[in-house]
Amino acid sequence: MKIMVTGATGRLGGLILQLLAERIQPERHTGGVRTPTECDVAADVRTPLKRDVADVRSPQERLITDAQTPPGRHFAHAPTHPGQLIAGVRNPEQAARLLARGIEVRVADYDRPDTLPGGFCGINKLLLISSSHPDDGVRLEQHSRVIHAAQEAGVKHLLYTGFAFPRPGGKDVHSLTEQRIAESGMAYTFLRSGLYTDFVEVLGLWQAMASGELVTAPGEWRFNSVIREDLAQAMALVLAEDGHEGRSYELAAARTWGFTELAEVLSQHAGREVRHREDPAVQHWIYAFLAKINTGATSSDLEQLLGRQAVPLAESIKPFIRPPAELQER
Ligand SMILES: NC(=O)c1ccc[n+]([C@@H]2O[C@H](COP(=O)([O-])OP(=O)(O)OC[C@H]3O[C@@H](n4cnc5c(N)ncnc54)[C@H](OP(=O)(O)O)[C@@H]3O)[C@@H](O)[C@H]2O)c1
Repeated sequence: MKIMVTGATGRLGGLILQLLAERIQPERHTGGVRTPTECDVAADVRTPLKRDVADVRSPQERLITDAQTPPGRHFAHAPTHPGQLIAGVRNPEQAARLLARGIEVRVADYDRPDTLPGGFCGINKLLLISSSHPDDGVRLEQHSRVIHAAQEAGVKHLLYTGFAFPRPGGKDVHSLTEQRIAESGMAYTFLRSGLYTDFVEVLGLWQAMASGELVTAPGEWRFNSVIREDLAQAMALVLAEDGHEGRSYELAAARTWGFTELAEVLSQHAGREVRHREDPAVQHWIYAFLAKINTGATSSDLEQLLGRQAVPLAESIKPFIRPPAELQER
């Protein structure tokens, strides 16, 4: 079984691969003795190196995963051999950490259709991480290219990271991508992510703790947000296991939170009271974005896949409680 994750130099893809690669021992396969395969000729393939880079995670990701992420379900079926796990990237120069973990690296650039047939050669299961391009029209074209190339390359099972709780019959990029995947005839699984908790970054948590006041735009806001570490673990489990064909998972929180609860956890972190106040003068594009998506619906899918509770709000926001200058540096 060959599993590939695209967008592998990104934050979500990197975490998924890190989890899936835990049982691979790259040092046994170094020395340039690997026999070239048919796919090596077709793809720009980088083979595993010695494990000389200690950690593929960013400092922010390490902050959460080292200390607080509970183990949850065991990875009984994770790949054990370097050839089984493949990272799809657009820039192999950025993939040293993946190579060091024993992951094969291939170029699979959504904007360069010539890279896709070779990139997907011999792949059984492909996780398409949705593109980060800011234009949804471009994203849909990129995703369509990947779907077409996967179909042509004989991929059996295509998994896609859309957005949780799509509107029925919606014409947004994720709904249209899912529709095209379903029409392709390949087996599919839709792994729909909830809102990343990262959005709290724009709320000024550091300033709220310093001033004792969290000031937000008025509204009945509820959030089903999730962190990438939980999403990555659930997605990695789905990728490693047999089955899941034809399933759609709403990978959002099982319980929502609001700004009052956020002020409460900020109070715990600050060791002093932080109150929540609504102010109509607060203007930020994030509120227009949040109003367009379903942030209030909940699902037990994520926790069921994880076999544990999702990381709680108090832990999830820790990476965002930093001085504004430090947040901008990331
Ligand atoms: N649920 C949410 O709240 C939420 C929020 C933000 C984004 N998202 C979606 O979730 C996806 C994954 O999140 P993330 O945190 O991993 O984002 P990320 O760190 O920005 O990673 C995005 C990945 O997509 C890759 N990519 C972009 N254009 C590509 C192309 N033309 N060909 C191949 N790969 C390409 C990037 O490659 P490089 O490393 O080369 O740049 C990167 O690896 C995002 O791409 C976005 O669609 C969801």
